[in-house]
Amino acid sequence: MNVDQSGSGEQQSPNHRRRPRYSGTHPKNYRQKYKEHNIAAHPDLKAHLRAKGKTPAGSHIPVLIEEVLGCLKPKPGQVVVDCTVGYGGHSLGFIKQIGPTGRLIAFDVDSTELERTRKRLGKEKTPISFYHSNFAGIANVLNKEKLDGYDIIFADLGVSSMQIDNPERGISYKNEGPLDMRMDDRLKRTGADLLNSLSEEELGRAFWELSDEPDYQEIARTIVAQRGVQPITTVSQLVRLVFAVKGLTINSWKKKQRNSKFGSLHPAARTFQALRILVNDELGSLKELLRLAPYCLRPGGRIGIISFHSGEDRLVKQSFRDGVQTGIYQSASQNAIVPRIKEIMSNPRCASAKFRWATKREVKM
Ligand SMILES: C[S@@+](CC[C@H](N)C(=O)[O-])C[C@H]1O[C@@H](n2cnc3c(N)ncnc32)[C@H](O)[C@@H]1O
Repeated sequence: MNVDQSGSGEQQSPNHRRRPRYSGTHPKNYRQKYKEHNIAAHPDLKAHLRAKGKTPAGSHIPVLIEEVLGCLKPKPGQVVVDCTVGYGGHSLGFIKQIGPTGRLIAFDVDSTELERTRKRLGKEKTPISFYHSNFAGIANVLNKEKLDGYDIIFADLGVSSMQIDNPERGISYKNEGPLDMRMDDRLKRTGADLLNSLSEEELGRAFWELSDEPDYQEIARTIVAQRGVQPITTVSQLVRLVFAVKGLTINSWKKKQRNSKFGSLHPAARTFQALRILVNDELGSLKELLRLAPYCLRPGGRIGIISFHSGEDRLVKQSFRDGVQTGIYQSASQNAIVPRIKEIMSNPRCASAKFRWATKREVKM
């Protein structure tokens, strides 16, 4: 006999099978971490994980939040565009300061996370417009929203913790899954598609230019040789290939890790980063945002960008510097603002973050 234990009173069909629940105490697998996916209902677990410097699966900790708000200075009634709303952490910070008379325009290319965040921020009093769109569209949205400009443009580049942790996305070298890597599922080509179609030269250039991978030529050569035997479609295939190129085994790498005081970068980290940036054309979108931003800001408006690798940071720094020289921006941060040790300890994923800001001239040009 089937006994209804759901408390709903509904009779379950004889074929009904409950989602298997993890009964142990140390869930490892993404699916086993079902409590973490609904972390608001488990505050003790949240506190426990955060104290250990971990990000609960299915959530994201906003990076450099105090510094961002301190430099961009949102005020009641202002219009803010969060180009990368993600989990909504920074957006929530802006909303608290612009209040119900302000407006938030929120972009994200990830439809799944955008929907969740729409629900999460839905109870806030500030009017919010959500756009499932690349932030390269910030100028078109100004027209749609009948706005003459934004007071603040903010972007927190790259991927969210939810995207990194989800094995179905294949973004992290840590979890086995398909090499998809798309943040926007409307994109045509996945990471596997690129690995199996680009030339050796194109792959090598990407590994060098997008992540400074020292073994870029050898990795590209091995990928092209290997795909002639069997297409490379999974995370573990690519990880094994990179280990082989570097003359490492999982065990020798683990031993090296144990002997290193601060731990070292995973051997496949750069390859995965470069492939993800390529799949999502992350630098192309950033260049477009930097080109459009000065024309979309109101006089005296501010732009702030958090980047996570040198290729992005170089573009931001150069653009703000050029803007000050040409007079579009009246000032810009002298140096990149980076997380303090305390923040890195509680959220190791923020370690490579760099924040820069610029202010548009007061006088209309
Ligand atoms: C680091 S997360 C942002 C986290 C967010 N600041 C928070 O506190 O929750 C980056 C987000 O930007 C999105 N994204 C990346 N590139 C984008 C682009 N070109 N246009 C719009 N969204 C983008 C990703 O899908 C991801 O959700």
